[in-house]
Amino acid sequence: MKDALGEVQSVLVLGGTSDIGVATANALVGRRTRTVILAARDPRACEQRVEDLRAAGAERVEAVGFDAVDTASHAAFVDEVFARFGDIDLALVAFGVLGEEDDPVELAQVNYVGAASVMNELARRMSDQGHGTIVLLSSVAGERARKSNFMYGASKAGIDAFAQGLGDSLAGTGVDVMVVRPGFVKTKMTAGRDPVPFSTTADEVAGEIVKGLARGAHTVWAPPVLRVVMSVLRHVPRPLFRRLPM
Ligand SMILES: NC(=O)c1ccc[n+]([C@@H]2O[C@H](COP(=O)([O-])OP(=O)(O)OC[C@H]3O[C@@H](n4cnc5c(N)ncnc54)[C@H](OP(=O)(O)O)[C@@H]3O)[C@@H](O)[C@H]2O)c1
Repeated sequence: MKDALGEVQSVLVLGGTSDIGVATANALVGRRTRTVILAARDPRACEQRVEDLRAAGAERVEAVGFDAVDTASHAAFVDEVFARFGDIDLALVAFGVLGEEDDPVELAQVNYVGAASVMNELARRMSDQGHGTIVLLSSVAGERARKSNFMYGASKAGIDAFAQGLGDSLAGTGVDVMVVRPGFVKTKMTAGRDPVPFSTTADEVAGEIVKGLARGAHTVWAPPVLRVVMSVLRHVPRPLFRRLPM
């Protein structure tokens, strides 16, 4: 349950080593979140992050095993987390792959299939508890697929649409879905790549997520100016769009 001031008390970060996911958990702990569960393929990789979150003031921080592509385990995984930690106020779906060697199957399995599967299970459990928010890390890349990373963009377009539909289907249950569309964020995912205009940081994205939660937003752009930029780019004719240096 949110506390008396409307702040979330418990957060599940799926993608427990994600720079954006951990930055958001830190920002929330700064606003009185007390329980953080970092779910990662290798929970041992979360040790330092667990220590940092405790040092920041969280009372209970634990790392648990989770693999996005092991969809057969997702129902039991979600049930176990709720059984062990009680109510989960916020689930942050922060895992994802960008794809060094573009592999449409891996991109679709992690970014779309894995995320859709676990969000579906989260929606089921949060509906049962009668409250909760699911936050999906989507991407501006899903707003309009561009030739340089259309496989990643397509996987994000799919999961973005899934999250919007899921949110609408949950209206009246007490469960909300918030879609976050960052542009280029300087994290380990983009290490070695040249930053593009409107590049941002994990802490700045975390700040936009916290603000979005406070106002009950269903969509958050990070930085916010990308909402305007993308609404223009979305309507650029294809022959021109494919010539843009993106
Ligand atoms: N960075 C950007 O420019 C940017 C822009 C827009 C959207 N996003 C999205 O924001 C989210 C977070 O990205 P980030 O920048 O924080 O990147 P990051 O630090 O590289 O985090 C990505 C996370 O995904 C996890 N992951 C990958 N495959 C997984 C699997 N099969 N099962 C479970 N976890 C898996 C990784 O875990 P391991 O430690 O096990 O590898 C890692 O924790 C992603 O969805 C990304 O697509 C990022």
